Amino acid sequence: MRKPIIAGNWKMHKLAGEGARFLMDLREKLPEAEKVDTVVCSPYIHLPLLTEAARDFPVSVGAQNMHFEDSGAFTGEVSPEMLKDILVEYVIIGHSERREMFGETDESVNKKTRASFNHGLTPIVCVGESLEQRENNETFTFVEQQVKNGLDGVTEEQLKQVVIAYEPIWAIGTGKTATSEEANDVCAHIRQVLKDTYSEDVAQAVRIQYGGSVKPANIDELLSKSDIDGALVGGASLEEDSFLKLVEAGA
Ligand code: G3P
Repeated sequence: MRKPIIAGNWKMHKLAGEGARFLMDLREKLPEAEKVDTVVCSPYIHLPLLTEAARDFPVSVGAQNMHFEDSGAFTGEVSPEMLKDILVEYVIIGHSERREMFGETDESVNKKTRASFNHGLTPIVCVGESLEQRENNETFTFVEQQVKNGLDGVTEEQLKQVVIAYEPIWAIGTGKTATSEEANDVCAHIRQVLKDTYSEDVAQAVRIQYGGSVKPANIDELLSKSDIDGALVGGASLEEDSFLKLVEAGA
């Protein structure tokens, strides 16, 4: 049985004081760490305060991106070493918004995924198709290629730590959630690709989240599916009560 993982992706939201206050408000309410992995992925500016506040909480802190080099002339970038230095534990890699607007490719996703392991960070590797690809029945083929390209060169032991987030682009921020069957079909296909490419052990160990308009109203149905191990949530993770309901659903 894979441990559920519920991650909030704040994207580019919340000003400095709101970040730590969010966790303090949830302090006594979050389920125990044994039941569910709870992750909050914030903009870089919140990370030091969040990791400090989260020290005694059953919650982990994640970044929404990182560079793959440890240091160098990369103006505006943040390295995996810098994230680890402030006790960040997770990092979202290859979110569709970064692929679409900031030039992220399967190649850079792969470099970042491999770099995350060099510093003990757990990667949440995002994959997902466009509406056009879904309508053209290209979803399985496209997502399969993203998984293989993104994980190329990662060892079997490292793979077992990877979290994959299946986020159909057409469901992100649209309120149009994939049905639990649609979501599970793709997550099951991802798991089959992991089995065929690596091993049954890897396929059974990797946790696969669904992301794309996940709300308290639909999360139970999504998590009831065999190959969905959690959720990567945007809008519904920004407000404490809503995020708490999502985490409780995972516990
Ligand atoms: O990374 C999660 C995000 O892409 C989903 O956003 O607002 O549809 O939950 P949202």
